[in-house]
Amino acid sequence: MLGQENDGLNYRLNYAEVSQKTYIDELIALISNHQLPITFVLNKIAKKPSQKQQAALTADTTPNLWLDKNNKLAWLTPQGEVTPSWDKLQKRVVTAGRKSELLLQAAKITKDSYVLDATAGFGHDALILASSGTRVTLLEQLPMMALLLIAEQFRMSQESNWQKLMGRLQIFGTDLQTFCQNQSSENNQAPFDVVYLDPMFPEDSYLDAKSGRGAQVNKRMQALHHIAVPPTLSEESELLANAKALLTHSDKARRVIVKRPKQAPFLAKLTPDDSWQNDAVRFDAYFV
Ligand SMILES: C[S@@+](CC[C@H](N)C(=O)[O-])C[C@H]1O[C@@H](n2cnc3c(N)ncnc32)[C@H](O)[C@@H]1O
Repeated sequence: MLGQENDGLNYRLNYAEVSQKTYIDELIALISNHQLPITFVLNKIAKKPSQKQQAALTADTTPNLWLDKNNKLAWLTPQGEVTPSWDKLQKRVVTAGRKSELLLQAAKITKDSYVLDATAGFGHDALILASSGTRVTLLEQLPMMALLLIAEQFRMSQESNWQKLMGRLQIFGTDLQTFCQNQSSENNQAPFDVVYLDPMFPEDSYLDAKSGRGAQVNKRMQALHHIAVPPTLSEESELLANAKALLTHSDKARRVIVKRPKQAPFLAKLTPDDSWQNDAVRFDAYFV
């Protein structure tokens, strides 16, 4: 067992081969650079834990991670292994445009835009936003999720065809409120043209109120529901107010975009200026 000195939470990092140690050291340095409160307890195991072993591991209070031979970092949850898997989005990212992506229709960004994804989660929407050539800052309040994002950016940065896109992403393991406070205390100009919010929804809100049918909550979201809770009404108002405060004062088109399940009420009960929707989701836009 090896470890890293810091005061953070212990995460057990299960890995497969001694040769991964250099990569793990680089990962530890990234965690420290991003000031994530995470300490690894390293555990070399012969092969990936079976489904049964994973269930036993997740009963443990120490969160368990798995670094496979390709250095893909996964979180081992009762739902199975959960990882951002950005490589699986390659086709979607390459073909993304306003025709195919409702989010890009709503966000109306250009290459020169600055975008803040204030609720990054697995970073999938951030990738779609960045596919248009824009720089995207990602905020994630949960250390586990921030770790997965940082590790995925690091892994994908080693792939030549992903390097440019990876270079446009900047990840902060913090919440929106703290980020806003830091921006104002450092006297930074509010720098964003678009702020994107995709807060947690209650698990049952993915279903159509009338038919009871709707988008299946996938394994990633099911796992996330164990560690992240939907905001209360007052937290929703705070999210929206903080998002608006971060919009640039330039005369560019500025907006906050909020993702909701199609049938869900408006964030903070505030009627948006415009909305785009498909069978499952709705993007509400608040212009400033
Ligand atoms: C529904 S998920 C976002 C999914 C994401 N859009 C994607 O494409 O993967 C919501 C995420 O936002 C994070 N979050 C919620 N409120 C936040 C806040 N105020 N600041 C930073 N992160 C927040 C949660 O921890 C969670 O990981």
